[in-house]
Amino acid sequence: MNKITIAIDGFSSTGKSTVAKQLAKHLGYVYVDSGAMYRAVTWFAMQKGYINEDQFDKMALINQLDRLEISFKFNPEVGFSEVYLNGVNVEKEIRTLEVSSFVSQVAKVSEVRRLLVKQQHELGKNKGIVMDGRDIGTVVFPDAELKIFMTASAETRANRRYQELIEKGEDVTLEDVLKNVEERDYVDSHRKDSPLVKAKDAIEIDNSDLTIEGQLETLIALSVEKIEKSTTDN
Ligand code: DC
Repeated sequence: MNKITIAIDGFSSTGKSTVAKQLAKHLGYVYVDSGAMYRAVTWFAMQKGYINEDQFDKMALINQLDRLEISFKFNPEVGFSEVYLNGVNVEKEIRTLEVSSFVSQVAKVSEVRRLLVKQQHELGKNKGIVMDGRDIGTVVFPDAELKIFMTASAETRANRRYQELIEKGEDVTLEDVLKNVEERDYVDSHRKDSPLVKAKDAIEIDNSDLTIEGQLETLIALSVEKIEKSTTDN
């Protein structure tokens, strides 16, 4: 059977990564959370003091990009790959609401995008990959055999994110989380470089009322169909 490339794009907190991870596991494919890469760069910028509530020193970040090494390492305890920044596991640090509040600004910077897209191409060069993000089906892998565009209402997504953050012990309000979701939707889909748009050939799935099991079943069926087609076509 041929291996294919699966691109899963959509707005923030649509549950893309949960289902993408499980799909990759089911197929024996590599899973890459491209959002984690943008979050790791954001965390780096925060640590260096390049970004905070008052300012964003874009040039300082751009000048330091060659000192930034992002990698993924499989953690058998959780069953998926975690993100490392210059050799340090930052999986936990990058998931806070504070990082979420800055990440869209960092993801607008073309130099950051170019660097990360290059790394994403490298990660996907042998196919057999499920990558989720915003521009995977449009910019990173425009030839992906299967493209999914996930949607859900902003309220549904904010509720999901709020529960996750509360479970992790973060002190946040649902109102703040909804505001962050709506702001990121706006910035992610209005930026000049690689905005979030549905690829023409992407299949849209609104998962507001779908269980994770239901979504996974749909994705597995679509993947098997594309894998079989790719195998008979070649
Ligand atoms: O998927 P996420 O919420 O963890 O992504 C964090 C941010 O990174 C998101 O607000 C936009 C940005 N992003 C992007 O611009 N392009 C990608 N391929 C993935 C994420």
